[in-house]
Amino acid sequence: MLEVTGLHVAYGGIQAVRSITFHVNEGETVALIGANGAGKTSTLKAIARVIDAAGGDVHFRGEKISRIAPHALIRKGIALVPEGRGVFPRLTVLENLRMGAFIRDDAVDIETDLEMVFGYFPRLKERESQLAGTLSGGEQQMLAIGRALMSRPKLLLLDEPSMGLAPIMVQKIFEVIRAVASAGMTILLVEQNARLALQSSQRGYVMESGGITLSGDAAELLDDPKVRAAYLGE
Ligand SMILES: Nc1ncnc2c1ncn2[C@@H]1O[C@H](COP(=O)(O)OP(=O)(O)O)[C@@H](O)[C@H]1O
Ligand SMILES: [Mg+2]
Repeated sequence: MLEVTGLHVAYGGIQAVRSITFHVNEGETVALIGANGAGKTSTLKAIARVIDAAGGDVHFRGEKISRIAPHALIRKGIALVPEGRGVFPRLTVLENLRMGAFIRDDAVDIETDLEMVFGYFPRLKERESQLAGTLSGGEQQMLAIGRALMSRPKLLLLDEPSMGLAPIMVQKIFEVIRAVASAGMTILLVEQNARLALQSSQRGYVMESGGITLSGDAAELLDDPKVRAAYLGE
């Protein structure tokens, strides 16, 4: 479904992503793990067209998307939940969720999807009139994921959904990620929390200094001595 070929990202003279190649099949959850600074966010931003790649190609459902306008991307069916969440702080929870559906004109289905999001995150329903800026970090993460789901994406790009959250909140968020995946969503999951990410994925890629150094089935990576030593704290 997603094919990334020789992707290169640079900031001025800094090579953040060095010619990486990987793919995500339809219906899969794929983890992209690696230490802080490895190039994970730059990779997601380049796929989502938030930044321009310096080289390489991205194909989505057979179509080259590496040059299309960022706003066109959401219509193609790609939604990014950015690092740091990016909710609209001065809008309510409900307004944020409706913003997620701005590209859609199927009013009835939008209401159905709102109920689906509230089903995943009852806490958002309880707080639907609350300003997003007053939510806790975990609740904002829920809102960011909910807002992305409101665009009815075919591919969900998640950048560090566990970052800065209490363990109980991380559990809740990941329960929903797994439920969304079980419902058929294709997910590219970027995480520093390698164990959790791999436990929630079918396959994974390890990024180091801008390159992919290891890849394989998630279960294999969880067992790999190098992964265990470097990313699982063993
Ligand atoms: N806007 C930017 N300007 C300059 N360098 C950046 C910028 N964003 C990221 N970098 C650098 O690119 C590299 C990869 O960063 P990033 O993609 O954020 O990694 P990760 O998400 O894996 O932590 C790092 O060395 C980082 O300092
Ligand atoms: Mg990052």
